[in-house]
Amino acid sequence: MQEHPETTSSEKPEAPRHETGLAGTDAVDKNAALEQRILADPGRFRVMTGDRPTGRLHLGHYFGTLQNRARLQELGVESFVLVADYQVLTDRDVADNLPESVEGLVLDYLAVGIDPARTTIYAHSAVAALNQLMLPFLSLVTVAELGRNPTVKDEVAHSRQASVSGLMFTYPVHQAADILFCKANLVPVGQDQLPHLELTRTIARRFNARYAPETGIFPEPEALLSAAPLLLGTDGGKMSKSRGNAVALADDADQTARLIRGAKTDSIRHITYAPATRPEVSSLVLLAALCLGRDPREVADEIGTGGAGLLKRTVTEAVNEYLAPIRARRTAYAQEPGFVRSILKEGNERARAVAEETLDEVRRAMGTSY
Ligand code: TRP
Repeated sequence: MQEHPETTSSEKPEAPRHETGLAGTDAVDKNAALEQRILADPGRFRVMTGDRPTGRLHLGHYFGTLQNRARLQELGVESFVLVADYQVLTDRDVADNLPESVEGLVLDYLAVGIDPARTTIYAHSAVAALNQLMLPFLSLVTVAELGRNPTVKDEVAHSRQASVSGLMFTYPVHQAADILFCKANLVPVGQDQLPHLELTRTIARRFNARYAPETGIFPEPEALLSAAPLLLGTDGGKMSKSRGNAVALADDADQTARLIRGAKTDSIRHITYAPATRPEVSSLVLLAALCLGRDPREVADEIGTGGAGLLKRTVTEAVNEYLAPIRARRTAYAQEPGFVRSILKEGNERARAVAEETLDEVRRAMGTSY
């Protein structure tokens, strides 16, 4: 019997309900409806998402997406998590420490509760059949479509390279292969990834129309927008490890305390939660609230005239306490020699089997299985 979502949701891990950066109520409504469908029947969904291994994950990643991935996994949604190592090559100067970055990323995943027994963790460079899907997919998009992609344009504008590589230009098609090789129908991502998801849907639709009009091979995956909380870096700018303004999951308690002690606040002593007018102070309040599982207004009220000093002590304590078990797991896994490698090896193998199957189907549909 199918249970009504309202009656079951209280027993299930709750969707994060903090302040979000989602633009417009349409996106919010659409997301809420999708959430309901997931809660009602998690077995219908297959999640696929991933990250570029460019540095250690921080609190922005955690509350923006990692927590949600672990939640979906706990709901029983089958999940694939990708280490997007090829995509790092779109901006070559961050690819220097690739093996270390990959290992660190997988450790971060394991530490936050991504369970390799239930979630396939893989690197796309290791899955040959996935990469081969890029050829038929490339044939289904026009050069003009690639040139219009706003996220690629933005990345080109911020690239430290003198010229743009072909991979930079075509990586959204590669991303479509990442998503479609396992026929994922749900992709939890941030707003910046929406153009890529739109292209993925276009490719799925065109492939089906051209080669498999009766049955279709690929689903058109839906985006589940991360409820990215308005967490700022300690300097008041966008949180980013390379700017040294973010608490990494892998940092220790002292590093965390130092970073938060140096955080930007403002000259008003009384602490309030007012994101629009006091972004830095409010971001700190929100961070404490997220870690404490409380309402940010309440947290702010309690600190009140205690000022920035008490605010920072509260945040430091809340963050360190929240991250303690995550950090302990991370340290334990890091100490087991060969552990991360073996997890990745297993995940790669599983992903390869799935990709081979899809590629076989694709070959049959295209008339290229000889
Ligand atoms: N483009 C994503 C990013 O820059 C990473 C990524 C690669 C991804 N392939 C993906 C995300 C497939 C979701 C699905 O963060």
